[in-house]
Amino acid sequence: MASSDVPAQSDVLFENPFSIEDLLVFDQDTLHHMLACGDSQLSRTLLAHGLHGASSTLISHITKSLSPEQQQLLQDELRHPLPTQEAEQARKELLDHLFWELVYWKTPDLYEELTEGERLHEGIFQAIQPDLAGKVVLDAGAGSGRASFECVRFGAEKVYAVEPSPGLLHLLRQKVRVDDKGKRIQPQSGRFTHLPVPDQSIDTVISCSAFTALDDQGGEPGLAELRRVTKPGGKIIIIWPRTEDLDWFEQHGFHYVSMPVQGEMYIYFRSFECALRIAHLFYGHNPAVVDYLQKVQKPEIPFSVIGMNPPRDYFWLAV
Ligand SMILES: C[S@@+](CC[C@H](N)C(=O)[O-])C[C@H]1O[C@@H](n2cnc3c(N)ncnc32)[C@H](O)[C@@H]1O
Repeated sequence: MASSDVPAQSDVLFENPFSIEDLLVFDQDTLHHMLACGDSQLSRTLLAHGLHGASSTLISHITKSLSPEQQQLLQDELRHPLPTQEAEQARKELLDHLFWELVYWKTPDLYEELTEGERLHEGIFQAIQPDLAGKVVLDAGAGSGRASFECVRFGAEKVYAVEPSPGLLHLLRQKVRVDDKGKRIQPQSGRFTHLPVPDQSIDTVISCSAFTALDDQGGEPGLAELRRVTKPGGKIIIIWPRTEDLDWFEQHGFHYVSMPVQGEMYIYFRSFECALRIAHLFYGHNPAVVDYLQKVQKPEIPFSVIGMNPPRDYFWLAV
């Protein structure tokens, strides 16, 4: 899940366990991207109000990621007193806005539990196998490697798995040590706008449930960078795009493919306890999810009950 617009209350499915001091987990570069640039940047007021009552360590950490002008504006806002209720509401909105980034950075193991059961439609990799087998691939926003491992399974010669979150990158490195016997996956730190490979060095760039139309999660600058690293005649493949970005990808020349599904696609959790834990945290605001699990008493749930489009589609672009 990669939504970074400030979510409307009705959009929020998760039960947010994070506190404002958890923002200390982010490095300066990430804070800068999340707070200070991009078209989904937080409003200055929300940030300042959310930081009312935060520790001086956190305020100084965040201030360092802002431009001198933004620093001044933040200091001015923080000097004004704010009713506790307004500060609490702003903190809640701020933390909801940053929920997924906090999951990637602070609780990567929980993210792994969530995604290991969200199996991508097998037909996607069968369809793109000609762009993987024997090819050099880059997986942008690789997370803990869900798509990188599939690329290897479908014959990729080498996969650069590029991920900005140190927590997920650590998890990915552990998995690669154990499961990537052929040493084909090379985890590396990087972002959509800064991919650590030379120009025109990659046959196929993929991004799974990560690249979006928003500038801080791809957008125009990210697409320019994906194009930079792709060889002429290569492909960019965006797996499981957000439904709200379908027009954006079409306007940028991508072709859409959706795999047929017989019946329902399910999420399969590693155990019933894990299913309940994940349901409470990530889907706590949709009571149908826990109700369903309690009724069937099995560690699996259809995407339709959660209210998500299943991982069955992708966009491709020839470079
Ligand atoms: C929903 S996860 C998907 C991870 C993985 N591709 C998968 O399918 O499991 C989104 C990923 O995008 C990464 N991400 C967020 N912003 C990014 C950026 N600007 N550049 C590269 N990756 C980013 C996150 O750290 C996270 O690992």
